Amino acid sequence: MSSEIKHNGFASKLGAILAAAGSAVGLGNIWRFPTETGANGGAAFILIYILFMLLLGLPVMISEFVIGRYSQKNVSESFYSMSGGKKAWKYMGLIPMGAAFLVLSYYAVVAGWTLYYAVLAGMNDFAGKDAVQYAADFAAFSSDPVQPWIWMALILAMTCGIVAMGVQKGIERGAKVMMPILFIFIVVLVICSLNLPNASLGLSFLLKPDFSKVTGSTVLSAMGQAFFSLSVGLCCLCTYACYFRKDVDLIKDGTSVASIDTLVALCSGLIIFPAVYSIPGLQPDAGPSLVFITLPNVFQQVFGNLPVLAYSFSLMFYLLLVMAALTSSISMLEMGAAYFEQNFGISRVKCAIGVTCVCLLLGTCCSLSFGVWSDVTVAGMGFFDLFDYLVAKFIMPVGSLLITIFVGWVVDKNIVKNEITNGGTLRQPLYPAYMVLVRYFAPICIILIFLNELGLFSWL
Ligand code: PFF
Repeated sequence: MSSEIKHNGFASKLGAILAAAGSAVGLGNIWRFPTETGANGGAAFILIYILFMLLLGLPVMISEFVIGRYSQKNVSESFYSMSGGKKAWKYMGLIPMGAAFLVLSYYAVVAGWTLYYAVLAGMNDFAGKDAVQYAADFAAFSSDPVQPWIWMALILAMTCGIVAMGVQKGIERGAKVMMPILFIFIVVLVICSLNLPNASLGLSFLLKPDFSKVTGSTVLSAMGQAFFSLSVGLCCLCTYACYFRKDVDLIKDGTSVASIDTLVALCSGLIIFPAVYSIPGLQPDAGPSLVFITLPNVFQQVFGNLPVLAYSFSLMFYLLLVMAALTSSISMLEMGAAYFEQNFGISRVKCAIGVTCVCLLLGTCCSLSFGVWSDVTVAGMGFFDLFDYLVAKFIMPVGSLLITIFVGWVVDKNIVKNEITNGGTLRQPLYPAYMVLVRYFAPICIILIFLNELGLFSWL
């Protein structure tokens, strides 16, 4: 059975950028980034994160583009054929595949929460409550065995529907509609947030670095966040790159996607931290609950005299989260669905449904870990935290390491150069810098950060 991509790719260059940006921009930017920034001390973490985006994440992203567009095959087959038929690489290509299931399973849980909160915001349910009540409501909802599961299933069903419609009609059209709305919402929310009382305190938390807070684990968190946010290391972007046209400039488009992603993350910080600081006593390191407990409270208290604004601000914010989550979960599901479609010749619709069902099962464990299964732990972590840890701090960096070694050292250099310069038709002055980053800087850096996490430099 041939594993070549058989269906049409993205119809336009803009569609390709928006779809890849849709994968990158997601809950990682709006929910995970502020959580990690809050927990790791603010500006110093952001600086390290931006450095990693540029020097590690971007080269890995471009490498994923090279692999996908050149091979036009699923990940495992790409690794196999581009390594000149080495079986070991074929099996290594299966690791990110498996991880795509893990990531979608726990991602869909939070995406489901955002959908529920968007509906609550739409029904004006936040009005007239106080901070204690928001916390109690969230605790009751997230620990309920049924409700969050239903919202997670809804998000997975929506994702499945879009993927089943195909690359152009589903993914590209979805990205072209949702991404511009998302950008408009972000701009409006940033302007509102910056005009709140005490916004300057939030700004200084974001902009004034305190390097005394930086530890080895801050660095690992920043690397994990950079990879998670750019969607690299799971070869999800290899799958999208299979659908890129031959005239797409991989370095330029990769840079655009990474810039959009970083900008959205920073804007989320500009929305959330000024809002948090606008009410005395609220903490920026409230963790995951920041978005579901702190913010509804902020919206109501800050716009207490203007209920229309409180209503619009909340609704816009949670709709923004839902759209961002959807465009990312689509890319996770597409990877698994495309693999089974190409490898086993099963119809796209059946593949999408099959992968969705597996994620629904795994997602059930993650969802229940906030309630009835809260005392079921592996290595001291519940399923949700375990999946997040495994994906962001382990599999994505390891996947990225494999990708850089593969493109930097295993694949024929002419193939890489040809893809980067579109067969020599494009002058690409950044090619040598890209190669240095991929061959030396990125792999060495990732290995050093891991060794540090294992405590190997603790004597220094
Ligand atoms: N980059 C996405 C976000 O920031 O929400 C998450 C993500 C998408 C991770 C796709 C991994 C992936 F393969």
